[in-house]
Amino acid sequence: MSSISEPVRLGVVGLGRAFMLTLPAFRDPRLRLVAAAAPRPESRAAFEAEFGGRAHATVEALAADPEVEAVYVATPHQMHAEHVQLLARAGKHVLVDKPLAVSLEDADRMVAAAAAGGVQLIVGPSHSFDAPVALARRLIDSGALGRVRMVQAFNYTDFLYRPRRPEELRTEEGGGVLFSQGVHQVDIVRLLCGGEALQVSAMTGAWDPARPTEGAYSALVSFRGGAFASLTYSGYAHFDSDIWMDGVGELGAKKAPEAYGRARRALEGLDASAEAALKSTRTYGTAGALPEPGHHEHFGPVLVLCDRADLRLTPDGVEISGDFERRFEPAPLIGHPRRTVVDALVAAVREGRAPAQTGAWGRASLELCHAILRSADTGAPVPLTRQCRPGATGTPMHEEIHP
Ligand SMILES: NC(=O)c1ccc[n+]([C@@H]2O[C@H](COP(=O)([O-])OP(=O)(O)OC[C@H]3O[C@@H](n4cnc5c(N)ncnc54)[C@H](O)[C@@H]3O)[C@@H](O)[C@H]2O)c1
Repeated sequence: MSSISEPVRLGVVGLGRAFMLTLPAFRDPRLRLVAAAAPRPESRAAFEAEFGGRAHATVEALAADPEVEAVYVATPHQMHAEHVQLLARAGKHVLVDKPLAVSLEDADRMVAAAAAGGVQLIVGPSHSFDAPVALARRLIDSGALGRVRMVQAFNYTDFLYRPRRPEELRTEEGGGVLFSQGVHQVDIVRLLCGGEALQVSAMTGAWDPARPTEGAYSALVSFRGGAFASLTYSGYAHFDSDIWMDGVGELGAKKAPEAYGRARRALEGLDASAEAALKSTRTYGTAGALPEPGHHEHFGPVLVLCDRADLRLTPDGVEISGDFERRFEPAPLIGHPRRTVVDALVAAVREGRAPAQTGAWGRASLELCHAILRSADTGAPVPLTRQCRPGATGTPMHEEIHP
């Protein structure tokens, strides 16, 4: 049994782009990177050279490693289900990157496997971990602002023109903007509105035949308690909504004006295999250093309209427009923006304290993403049945309503 102050011994599956983005936060005295699983020998060698731990060739070997207490799973979405179930069965706590899974059936199995294994399952990093989102939630919970009535979240990016592997452009394999991007926005909005979405009406756009998946959506969601939210995202955008986030990009660094158009320019003239090769230059062991974040991460403009004030989330905190005054409540950046994910992981493993973003929470966000696709397909509103409040660990909403 490890003592409460000992660093959590962490393993990693998937030494790709997501690991690169989260690694700076993992350089924290409360964690020790002790093992990894990676199919590519170069990645294993890079991991062992940097961390001195054990790099295994398979997830099975990592699951059997007695040194490992918890594992960050950052493999492609469609592998999450198999990897998480295997690790949970072996008694490892799991932090799985979003989305929890591609299919809801897999999500159900993963939540059940974590419960059966008696382990914590956390879905993240997602932008619902961003400190300004947590600050907005605390302001709402204080009760001083009245009830949340309406939320607007929008984000305009070049996501669809960043380098992709072919399956990332096939919706049935988890491609398109809903599973990779929409799930961030859904997570944030659910957190601000209490979590339990009732119904969604949506439209999606698949506007580029060369990249045949959904690149845009608009959704209108109702919540238990009466709030409603509109969520809009475009990964085809020319307009960059980071301009409304003080010029700070998603990862918390100021954007250089000369970066405009860079994603589309880099893809010019590439076939699918050259594009996949370009993607692999952005991963752990191959990519250059990331820009230093001076701000929190964010996922585009978010406005929360409450009875007595409106909140605007920024990369540095929350602007509060009340009846008679406007003020700014800062969210100080302590260490790396993704430190909040490490806080959640350490609290879960060392103190058994579940964060908002449990497996059940991630399943509910995934359900909403699927419902957006289905509503767009059928033209009808889609009711939701697997929704839950932050921190829930099991029961879907409909069972709570109709016991
Ligand atoms: N939170 C974020 O900011 C963020 C950013 C990017 C990606 N992601 C998420 O992370 C996940 C991975 O995406 P990515 O862009 O990093 O992909 P990626 O292709 O860059 O990385 C995936 C890695 O998994 C490895 N892998 C494949 N099969 C494996 C196996 N059987 N065992 C061990 N490793 C295996 C690959 O070699 C690769 O290194 C996705 O679910 C994505 O949604 C999150």
